[in-house]
Amino acid sequence: ADPTVQVPELLGSPLLDVRDTSALPLPPALYLDGEGRGRANSNGADLTAPHQRAPLQAALDTVRVDTVPEATAADVDAAMARLHAGFTAWNATPVAQRAAMLRRAADALDGRLPEFCALLVKEAFKTQADCVAEVREAVDFLRYYADTAEHDAAHMQGRGVFVCISPWNFPLAIFAGQVVAALVAGNTVAAKPAEQTPFVALKMVELLHDSGVPADALALLHGAGETVGAGLVAHAHTAGVCFTGSTAVAQIINKSLAKKSNAPVPLIAETGGLNAMVVDSTALPEQVIDAVVQSAFRSAGQRCSALRLLCVQDSIADGVIEMLKGALQQLWVGKPEQLATDVGPVIDDEAHAGIGRHVERLKREATLIAEAPVHDALPRQIRPVAFEIRRVADLGDEIFGPVLHVVRFSGPVDDVIRDINALGYGLTLGIQTRIDSRAERLASLASVGNVYVNRNIIGAVVGVQPFGGEGLSGTGPKAGGPDYLRRFAAEPRIDAPA
Ligand code: SER
Repeated sequence: ADPTVQVPELLGSPLLDVRDTSALPLPPALYLDGEGRGRANSNGADLTAPHQRAPLQAALDTVRVDTVPEATAADVDAAMARLHAGFTAWNATPVAQRAAMLRRAADALDGRLPEFCALLVKEAFKTQADCVAEVREAVDFLRYYADTAEHDAAHMQGRGVFVCISPWNFPLAIFAGQVVAALVAGNTVAAKPAEQTPFVALKMVELLHDSGVPADALALLHGAGETVGAGLVAHAHTAGVCFTGSTAVAQIINKSLAKKSNAPVPLIAETGGLNAMVVDSTALPEQVIDAVVQSAFRSAGQRCSALRLLCVQDSIADGVIEMLKGALQQLWVGKPEQLATDVGPVIDDEAHAGIGRHVERLKREATLIAEAPVHDALPRQIRPVAFEIRRVADLGDEIFGPVLHVVRFSGPVDDVIRDINALGYGLTLGIQTRIDSRAERLASLASVGNVYVNRNIIGAVVGVQPFGGEGLSGTGPKAGGPDYLRRFAAEPRIDAPA
């Protein structure tokens, strides 16, 4: 008998022979609309399904990352002169044309998802689930900003040359999001990606140029923040800066901009967080543990949104901590290209050493809850770990790795939110409670950009959960939200017609 199984016709697609799994496409990226219809960017990929797995595996086998030349001071000057000269023509290009370039780039990137996933595995050591989510997020940014630019077309007049400085932890999504937001608003762009992840940025810029963005509108400058980044920020042609990275570097950029003698230059900064999750005695412990594991340890804790502090009401704390111990034992710490892996290596030796020092200090000063075992020993691995500390205020600076701090509380839960606010950051907050009125009250007390109730606190979806913080966490506006592009644009000279 013929073992071929035919899958039934679905939504008009032709019948497929399931033996030929290569014929099945990876599901496309799609941002949700304002009412939450559609599909989350990071969902829809089942990496264990052969038809989704095969193209990713093929790309992992063939795609290579390479080194890039570092920009000199003369390169910076030449690029800025060219972008300055290119501004008038780019700004005069109709918004619909600029948006069309973003949509072409989105389609191209969507079609090259396996290749870009492989680049992310090899350059940033991301797990495959993280890679798929990141490529989709980048596609979502392109489509969402194309849509919002057209919606706001009357306001999309650029300021001049925008400098975009992006981090290694989302070397595709944040890099692309910043660059295309600045571009579609009418600016020309000098892009300076993190020095740890230059190659994926190079491929993305090539893709944007191939999609119609002229060379005079977008230049890529590789190198260290202290040299190339600082040179771009201080440059006389710089009309705006968009930065995502540490709070300390945002402050350095701010000071450098303040010293400039020309017109004041706006800074859009998205920085760090000391993000907490508050768990009251009514919370569902299994849900808490799932959310904690995702938020604290996924991406090896290298997300600005990641969970650093878990505050648990005393009456259920023993049980939650016991479950957390079990969950840590189950984490798979290993090779990012292996499907089973939950946590891969951290980005570089400096990060590894810094997180290591913090863990050593906590081993002396706090109570170790548990540390995950290692499955495949690789360089720069940090074993996900949880410690109990005494007070919220004992949390030090942001540690960008898979290290969770746990605090028990017995007083009023509102006081916990006040202690968290007093840390000065304000990016993400998790609330776990089954009392709706309490969730609402705590959310309104918290000084943070993004509050998540009874779920994890990472992976904001473009167009649905605009992402960005306050206080030490950044200036706003929120990325992936309706107000983002306007901050890149000049004030309109006349009242724009409605
Ligand atoms: N946008 C990312 C997230 O929500 C940033 O870390 O996780």
